[in-house]
Amino acid sequence: MPDVKLVNISKRYGKGKIIAADKVNLEIKDGEYFTILGPSGCGKSTLLKIIAGIVKPDEGEVYVGGKLINDVPIEERRIAMVFQNILLFPHMNVEENIGYAPRVKGIERERRVKIVEEIVSMLKLTLRSTAFPDELSRGAQQKVSLARAIASETNLFLLDEPLSALDSRVRLELRYELRRLVKELGVTAIHVTHDQEEAMSISDRIAIMKHGKIIEVGSPVELYLGPRTIFTAHFLGKMNFMEGMVRESSGGGCVVEVSGGVRIRTKVRGRLARERVVLAIRPEFIKLSQTMNENEKNVIEGKIVEKFYTGSYIYYKVKLENGIEVFTLTEAEKMYKDGDKIYASFPPEYVILFKYPEEGLEKELSLE
Ligand SMILES: Nc1ncnc2c1ncn2[C@@H]1O[C@H](COP(=O)(O)OP(=O)(O)O)[C@@H](O)[C@H]1O
Ligand SMILES: [Mg+2]
Repeated sequence: MPDVKLVNISKRYGKGKIIAADKVNLEIKDGEYFTILGPSGCGKSTLLKIIAGIVKPDEGEVYVGGKLINDVPIEERRIAMVFQNILLFPHMNVEENIGYAPRVKGIERERRVKIVEEIVSMLKLTLRSTAFPDELSRGAQQKVSLARAIASETNLFLLDEPLSALDSRVRLELRYELRRLVKELGVTAIHVTHDQEEAMSISDRIAIMKHGKIIEVGSPVELYLGPRTIFTAHFLGKMNFMEGMVRESSGGGCVVEVSGGVRIRTKVRGRLARERVVLAIRPEFIKLSQTMNENEKNVIEGKIVEKFYTGSYIYYKVKLENGIEVFTLTEAEKMYKDGDKIYASFPPEYVILFKYPEEGLEKELSLE
């Protein structure tokens, strides 16, 4: 099982104007399901292609299993890559597609058939082995391309948006299959996606990428509950942001003044008084109530201005008395109407603070 290490990898395109990879350092462990998540164009595919050997980096080193592989040709890297655009041989049937690598290696027919059979049963592929790719659904085609990758006996899978071209139902199903498979085979997987939900549900760890740079690496829970950057907080799930200024700071936390002189108490320590900050809280942590509860902290009056029903949950857009609008997420059994007066409380333990970004909050939140 290989671990993968990228050291100071850089790659530019367009006479140096486009920075696809900007001094990337990453370590992926043996047997890990690792995801690179970021908006379209941030350089995810470039990184995968550098690991696969399809693209040469301008600078930096790629290590697989502790060995420097910069100069190892593609065919000797024992790495399988699966793409969004499914690349099956159209003139070969399912069995021939899956058995391609073993055949090229000169494995005789009898053993090849066995290998293919094993993989087909492991993948729970219920298809005719004599079917041609264009007779299959896209989901089935992608499973066959995975099967083909497995048959190449690689121990490092590079998956470039492998689920993006599929229907949402098939996408969800294959998500769990993919993870199960990687764990069962004991291989290492590096999966690239721009879909944050996919990344959260499939990964051991996620690297957040923006403009060719790795912004932050962590487990889904670490990144969701304790993001260290505004970009991560914004890109993973939904988050409410408010600009503010620290008014008091002590060993137990600090008080932040936001728009309209409203003060919000937090558990965040080590902030300086008069420091400009961005305050953030996730919609599901804001509590709504129609009566004022003396036990709740940071209660702000407001009214419901919009409602988005999702089935099991409802998003409410609440306009607070200081003019700020926040999103809240509430179980669907609690129904409020547009215009209802409401008390929103912000539990101090769920309030996160970030340093105010040099170029302003809006610029920091843009995905371009
Ligand atoms: N072969 C290439 N020639 C020129 N520019 C490229 C090439 N490949 C990628 N780029 C540019 O590099 C940046 C990163 O691309 P890519 O790695 O494909 O991003 P992602 O996979 O995150 O969408 C983009 O601006 C893209 O246009
Ligand atoms: Mg891409």
